[in-house]
Amino acid sequence: MGEKEQEVEIIRLLKSGPGYTSGQLLSASLGVSRTAVWKHITALRAMGYAIEASPSKGYRLREGRPFHGVELQSVLAGQAFGCQVHFFDSTDSTNARAFELARNGAPEGAVVIAETQTKGKGRIGRKWESPAGMNLYLSIILRPSVAPQGAQGLTFALAVAAAEAVLASGLKPAVKWPNDILIDGRKTAGILLEMDSEPDRVHFVVAGIGVNLNIKQDMFPEYIRQTATSLLEQTGSPVDRVAFTANLLASMERWYGVYLSEGFVPVLEAWKGYFRSFGKPLKVTFFDHAIEGICAGVDVDGALLLERGGRVERIISGDVEAL
Ligand code: BTN
Repeated sequence: MGEKEQEVEIIRLLKSGPGYTSGQLLSASLGVSRTAVWKHITALRAMGYAIEASPSKGYRLREGRPFHGVELQSVLAGQAFGCQVHFFDSTDSTNARAFELARNGAPEGAVVIAETQTKGKGRIGRKWESPAGMNLYLSIILRPSVAPQGAQGLTFALAVAAAEAVLASGLKPAVKWPNDILIDGRKTAGILLEMDSEPDRVHFVVAGIGVNLNIKQDMFPEYIRQTATSLLEQTGSPVDRVAFTANLLASMERWYGVYLSEGFVPVLEAWKGYFRSFGKPLKVTFFDHAIEGICAGVDVDGALLLERGGRVERIISGDVEAL
């Protein structure tokens, strides 16, 4: 076992029990001396792991584990999505960082994660609130061999992946067209796709996803406090960000694969399983005006269908709100 693997193993052992784990057990499990264990504990503390030591009982991991400790890379080992993790304590936008990396040749599956973003970007020029230490702000580089129009389907594939990751936390997510994830009618995750392309060929796509994981309701700024939520608020218990991220990336890899190999049909079918706006009144806001109607479903290409005055209109972009 290399040095890094030993550190990962110590964290795994400390996490496996609620109480203390003896230094003797750690050194026996790793096959190293107690002094070597102590050195690892010191290194782990420097990474931000709050490890308590008791001369008689051993070591205990307190709550408040760092996101970017030794675990993230180790749980992602072997996955194509997460083959590289570029971690920033703070950056303007992970999408901007991923765009730069992609331009410089970073491979498909390379991921950028930040603890906080100073200019987190949302759809339609909005801001994405990105306080430090509690949520997930992640961008991934994709290099699909499709024309620019084909990249639109990715939006749906990634929304399904995000909904699946929320579902795995024991909640009942819904998608808001095209790719917001709601719980109980409130937004918990958003996806922003940006791409670099020629008219008939995509060079790369940067898919950015923000998930409100451990933010408390009163920490949301006033303007979204009534419309946003987090997994912590919904489940009542904090989310392990490493486990959530690994799970999300595995889902994204799977649905990206489905989209590339089987096309849009199975993706849209899965997406519809999370779509609960059918038959409901909706308002769609465009750049300079808004319209209202009844949701008549989603077309085969993913366009939103809105019934207004006996006619069904196809919406291909816009901001949707339930009325
Ligand atoms: C939206 O719903 O408006 C999309 C929000 C996307 C936010 C994420 S956070 C990680 C990535 N970096 C950004 O600047 N934006 C996306």
